[in-house]
Amino acid sequence: MDRKIRVMSVFGTRPEAIKMAPLVQTLARRPEFESLCCLTGQHRQMLDSVMEIFQLEAQYDLNIMEQRQTLSTITTKTLLGMERVLEEAKPDLILVHGDTSTTFAGALAAFYHKVPVGHVEAGLRTYDKYSPYPEEMNRTLVGDIAHLHFAPTRANAENLRKEAIRGEIFVTGNTVIDAMKTTVQPGFRFEEDILNHLDYVGRKVITLTCHRRENYGQPMEDIMSAVAEIVRENPEVEVVYPVHLSPVVQECAKRILGGLDRVHLIAPLDVAQMHNLMARSYLILTDSGGLQEEAPAMAKPVLVLRRETERPEAIEAGTVKLAGVEKDRIISMTRELLRDPTAYNAMAKAVNPYGDGNACQRIADAIAWHFGLLKDRPQDFEAN
Ligand code: UD1
Ligand code: UDP
Repeated sequence: MDRKIRVMSVFGTRPEAIKMAPLVQTLARRPEFESLCCLTGQHRQMLDSVMEIFQLEAQYDLNIMEQRQTLSTITTKTLLGMERVLEEAKPDLILVHGDTSTTFAGALAAFYHKVPVGHVEAGLRTYDKYSPYPEEMNRTLVGDIAHLHFAPTRANAENLRKEAIRGEIFVTGNTVIDAMKTTVQPGFRFEEDILNHLDYVGRKVITLTCHRRENYGQPMEDIMSAVAEIVRENPEVEVVYPVHLSPVVQECAKRILGGLDRVHLIAPLDVAQMHNLMARSYLILTDSGGLQEEAPAMAKPVLVLRRETERPEAIEAGTVKLAGVEKDRIISMTRELLRDPTAYNAMAKAVNPYGDGNACQRIADAIAWHFGLLKDRPQDFEAN
């Protein structure tokens, strides 16, 4: 190619933005690429906060978010919005990330315009269509559309090979580990002032997040009730819960946990505050995908509030356990980590199965190689 390769990153939710930000920055620094961003705005406030922290600018913003939006509105508004963007920007490659509705609709829009797609965080699977819902189907469908698959781990790449996916598969590590390089700092001051005054040494601070659609309803009620019980029976515990802005989650969290002593329901944190809170916490209760990848690098035990996970690597490494969504099991597994130092220490060890901080460079090299600008294919990421 005798001109720059025009790569357009399309993303719309908080986790996609956090994980695409270091890649967008890497592409922008390299002379062979022209890097563009198209936001769907599937999330508004939570996305803007990431753009600000990483000082990213978007050339396009579809601004699609609605209160209590449905999967169909996200998908159709993205598809329609992307028509004009693709016609105008004429990218050589679209990058999408992970498994959200933005990811799926962004890839489908690119396919309709015959623009090749690179899928970042490819190959995660549970092989259960409805769990996580709708993410498992989103990422599977994007796997069929994409030309370039950037799998974080070797096991993710194996999933794609088993499915006889077409296109090139690269094992790159997860870009979230790249993003974490700069966020965690020893003397960090929190903008959310309450976090500056917690006693992280004398108390046991639990960071909680919970937002997944498949947990809406009874599972979420049971998770919140379990947390209320954990706080009641363990006077040394403080729970910090930055509550996702989904009205469904807000309502449930406030109803069951609002007003309880030693439970801090706060607004979503920007990612720098979030990582520094996690780094100071005793343990993490979460149904988030991203937290399962970040916490092991900080030596923080994680109990996953889901029935399954597409991230088995940290479970195998011993720092993450599946707690499920039943109240009694969540209470007893948390109790064990609070009261049994041997059980706690066995989980609190730093491991990095998800990356070495160089995922973005590997992805940029892989794209350059694909377009004939590099002679050698990048080496696959190997976990230690
Ligand atoms: C989405 C993704 C999920 C991902 C999660 C990360 C889909 C189907 N789901 O789920 O895979 O784990 O993001 O957080 O793509 N809201 C705001 N402001 C915001 C963000 C959300 O008000 O900045 C509210 C809106 O009312 C919105 C609702 O939250 O309708 C739900 O957002 P949505 O993106 O549909 O679902 P998430 O549960 O966030
Ligand atoms: N996160 C954040 N602020 C919060 C909660 C989470 O910055 O208040 C970050 C978290 O560190 C991780 C990402 O958001 O990088 C995970 O997003 P989320 O849990 O919403 O989505 P998932 O990873 O489950 O798709």
